[in-house]
Amino acid sequence: MAKPLKLAVLVSGGGTNLQAIIDSINDGKIIAKIEIVISTKKNAYALKRAEKHQIPCQVCSPKDFTSNDEFSNEISKIIDSYKADLIALAGFMSILSSSFIKKYENRIMNTHPSLLPSFGGKGFYGDRVHKAVLDYGVKISGATIMFVSEEVDKGPIILQQAISVDQEDTIKSLSEKVLPLEHKLYPLAIKLFSENRLEVKGRVVNILTKERKND
Ligand code: GAR
Repeated sequence: MAKPLKLAVLVSGGGTNLQAIIDSINDGKIIAKIEIVISTKKNAYALKRAEKHQIPCQVCSPKDFTSNDEFSNEISKIIDSYKADLIALAGFMSILSSSFIKKYENRIMNTHPSLLPSFGGKGFYGDRVHKAVLDYGVKISGATIMFVSEEVDKGPIILQQAISVDQEDTIKSLSEKVLPLEHKLYPLAIKLFSENRLEVKGRVVNILTKERKND
């Protein structure tokens, strides 16, 4: 049997995406183990979800560091101590340093609640994304799972799925349409990674039907 993928999940909020990953692992859909959950907020509900499943947790807040480099180095130290293969950002609301992102190239994933490259970048997170979608008047939105690159929300796109934006939609109703897509796509992206089926060529991610031999 394949060796379980070692995951580090970084969170800041409610942790519904973390829950979707936990559930997929528990249902046997992904062969992985969450080694550590790191939260930027000590009262994040995501921590309660992790504790309920006996997953080790640590709090690491950017406010406790004098620079983003120091904050990112601390997160890197924690991740390395658990020998994580993949870092999954799941509602993680801080920016990681360039050297952190370079160190784990194509080993950091993120989920975003719009169809990137639209409504992404600095300042576009959580409900702000849905507000921007509604204010702009676009007729479709959706979810994107991508690898993290140095430029915020510009990394190679792994999976996307669209929903329609209706006249009656509100921030809440849009979020309720998009979140279930994230919950479906994020575990799937992790599964593809664990099966070595994601081939990154420049900014394009090809999904291989067969497992890729290790480079
Ligand atoms: C998700 O919708 C995620 O895409 C978004 O925050 C929410 C977290 O929900 N992330 C971003 O906007 C990142 N730019 P969760 O804490 O319930 O998983």
